[in-house]
Amino acid sequence: MSPPIIAVYGATGHTGRLVATELLARGHRIVLAGRDAIAVQKMTTELDAGERVEALAAPLDDPGALRELAAGCTVLVHCAGPYSETGRPVAEAAVAAGCHYVDHALEQHHVRSLFDELDRPARDAGSALVPGASFYGGYGDLLAAVVAAGLPEVRRLVIGYAVAGWRMTAGARRTADQVIADLRRVTFTDGALDEHYVEPRNAVFPFPPPLGPQSMVAPVPYHETITVPRHVPAREVEAQMTAHTFAPETFEGQDVDDATRAGSEYTVAVQAITADGGRTGLVTGRDLWWGAALVSVEVALALAEPPGPARGGVFAPAEAVDAGALLARLERRGAFTASPGLLPDATDEPLLGIR
Ligand SMILES: NC(=O)c1ccc[n+]([C@@H]2O[C@H](COP(=O)([O-])OP(=O)(O)OC[C@H]3O[C@@H](n4cnc5c(N)ncnc54)[C@H](OP(=O)(O)O)[C@@H]3O)[C@@H](O)[C@H]2O)c1
Repeated sequence: MSPPIIAVYGATGHTGRLVATELLARGHRIVLAGRDAIAVQKMTTELDAGERVEALAAPLDDPGALRELAAGCTVLVHCAGPYSETGRPVAEAAVAAGCHYVDHALEQHHVRSLFDELDRPARDAGSALVPGASFYGGYGDLLAAVVAAGLPEVRRLVIGYAVAGWRMTAGARRTADQVIADLRRVTFTDGALDEHYVEPRNAVFPFPPPLGPQSMVAPVPYHETITVPRHVPAREVEAQMTAHTFAPETFEGQDVDDATRAGSEYTVAVQAITADGGRTGLVTGRDLWWGAALVSVEVALALAEPPGPARGGVFAPAEAVDAGALLARLERRGAFTASPGLLPDATDEPLLGIR
């Protein structure tokens, strides 16, 4: 059997480059793809990995090229956003070609539309689609699965992101502009999804010391409201972000140097409230971009490993893989430190959860 090939769409962006570099460092064969033929070819030369790296230009308005890209790989990792603009054609190409798909979306409507509209075609094609396997949204989904494991009912599950030093790339800035301006928020309350305007409020999330309680913007419209209820028996799901994160310099990070870009510091905590108390767990780390890339790489490699997923469809990150095992691997790689006793010991056993 020939070794799996992982395609990276949007390879020339910050996230795409991290994903491509990580895959090459682990010895895999990759295809660098994007809309700009010269840029992907230039990057292929720069990475200097011989036959393990190829380039393919595939603009979004060229379904034939996207189809060729998808047909030539086992998993397509989509790193070009905003996904409200770029997501659908790439995901559809993956389904049409029967390959697997992973993306970095946090956008609720994109993620919801994949579950609502592409699940059946993906099942028929045997394609596993895992949107939102990243930092924002992705860490929340995976941590929620670990913190709530075994709880029979969760009244309220809150994901708190405390982030300092985040400097947005051009793609992240365009995504943030769209998300903030979009007044149709997908909520999960009383055990049901709904879509309506939500007035943002100030909340306090009780991070434990040394961070301590923080003033939060609540809710932030990330995809956990859609993905978490698929695998956690929750009545209510909400994501929140430290208010100080939304400082002007966060939005003006397009031209910072690599060290500054990598200098973000974060704590992501999940509080699962039950009738008789509840449970909390968190991770604290540095460089959210690297953490985001690692999540998508681990999910992509889990899907690529033979014999592959037993069935196709659209899956939350924590449905696609064993969340605790994945987070334990990230901790072993030095991405973050988890609260004591939260994660199992890291192993190299297969992560795939789609059986
Ligand atoms: N959920 C999370 O925590 C998380 C983490 C990381 C990234 N992301 C998301 O991932 C996306 C990329 O982020 P980034 O930091 O890598 O941004 P970036 O460095 O600005 O790169 C953006 C990439 O997307 C490509 N692109 C943009 N619009 C495109 C289009 N219409 N057709 C084809 N390619 C297009 C760009 O290609 P060109 O070079 O040709 O312009 C570039 O390769 C953003 O949406 C961001 O929100 C999310």
